[in-house]
Amino acid sequence: MLYFLAILLGYLLGSISFSYLIGRITMNIDIREHGSGNAGATNTLRVLGKKAAIFVLLGDVLKGVVAVWIGYLLTHSEEGLALAGLASIVGHNWPVYFGFRGGKGVATTIGVMISIVPTASLYAGIVAILILLITRMVSVFSLLFQTILPIAIWLSGAPSVYFWSSIVTAVLSYWRHRSNIVRILEGKESRIGKSK
Ligand code: G3P
Repeated sequence: MLYFLAILLGYLLGSISFSYLIGRITMNIDIREHGSGNAGATNTLRVLGKKAAIFVLLGDVLKGVVAVWIGYLLTHSEEGLALAGLASIVGHNWPVYFGFRGGKGVATTIGVMISIVPTASLYAGIVAILILLITRMVSVFSLLFQTILPIAIWLSGAPSVYFWSSIVTAVLSYWRHRSNIVRILEGKESRIGKSK
């Protein structure tokens, strides 16, 4: 029962779409109808600017952090906190409050993974950020982070439930980045800090 509650609360928390809310509050737009159409921090940067993007990034990361804590407090188990964290990412991607049209889960995944495997997340994050600085494609950063993370977790000897959680988040991320992958391969992916 407590596991179910942890998953439910994680999902409901993850479903709070900060990019949608800030789009509505500041400019009365649906962020999903602008830019890449993604309800996330990168598209918020594109459409609404830096301040709004930072707010969304922090909010989306925090959702993952809080979900993990809820999972921990309710179940006191590695499985419980991982499941609550995964549920928050699912909520971010398919939010119950916003017609199940959400984001790609990267910022929320970062919040979850920083909470449960901080060292592995740091290593994966450093490598991915270096590549982001070179390519300026956030989607490349996102996919690289998600790809390196399971390897870093495996090398760190962390509990296998965390390794498998990172495999699940990687699969979710690749699925949500399908259109980005096509654009990257075609050389058409947008870059931050550069007009399209
Ligand atoms: O985290 C989302 C990012 O990887 C890509 O976002 O808006 O460029 O599709 P976007």
